[in-house]
Amino acid sequence: MSAVVIANWKMHGSGSALSAFANQWQALSDQPLPNVDVVLCPPGVYAQRAQQLLPQLALGAQDCAPEAEGAYTGDISAPMLADLGCSWVIVGHSERRQGHGETDALVAQKARAAANAGLTAVVCVGESLEQRQGGSQEQVVSAQLQGSLQGLAAGEFVVAYEPIWAIGTGHTATPEQANSMHEHIRQTLVQLLGSRGSDIALLYGGSVKPDNAGELFACPNIDGALVGGASLMADSFYAIAKAASESGRT
Ligand code: 13P
Repeated sequence: MSAVVIANWKMHGSGSALSAFANQWQALSDQPLPNVDVVLCPPGVYAQRAQQLLPQLALGAQDCAPEAEGAYTGDISAPMLADLGCSWVIVGHSERRQGHGETDALVAQKARAAANAGLTAVVCVGESLEQRQGGSQEQVVSAQLQGSLQGLAAGEFVVAYEPIWAIGTGHTATPEQANSMHEHIRQTLVQLLGSRGSDIALLYGGSVKPDNAGELFACPNIDGALVGGASLMADSFYAIAKAASESGRT
């Protein structure tokens, strides 16, 4: 499987920041990066402009509604995102689980809505610092996977493991910690989905930077990254995408 590297801009950026990113990206990427899917998830209001300025990147969204349409003020549906040209959507990010009270059941509905619209869902899971210190990280992540993947089939989603204690803190998980959790996720996916669980890309997220990306991608169970802060600058995001391209996945 190809590597997957996704920029999650969260609620950062502006029209001018997007133009500057696009100019810098063009200057860096004179040749396409082989064996990696590179995806940009800007705030939704900039998606169309991102697609115009950066047609060489796949476009993604940071969330979608669980319903396809209706009286849901402020929500954006998966079919609308597909209509806009998105092919990916992040669901169940810890910032939405914590800040917006999203449950596994809601995440599963959103992922199902995404798949129905032909989008690949990026289903996020990850434990808190207290849970890791208490040693329950594997049970926490298994339960999140079981709940959040209800009704999904292999081929409709990828998984992003983002330990909450590593997000935006500069404290990335060590390659050993990340790889060991990814191995556990892989086993859980095989239990849930049978042998097709082996084909699902597992991304790591949490303080991924150009200087740690290579050692993370060298781990056998880490197929890519979901990148926050370091994706806001074209040079650092390009360096991460290049490391994934060179990681030997085909
Ligand atoms: P950082 O890369 O800024 O730690 O954010 C990770 C993340 O939450 C990506 O979704």
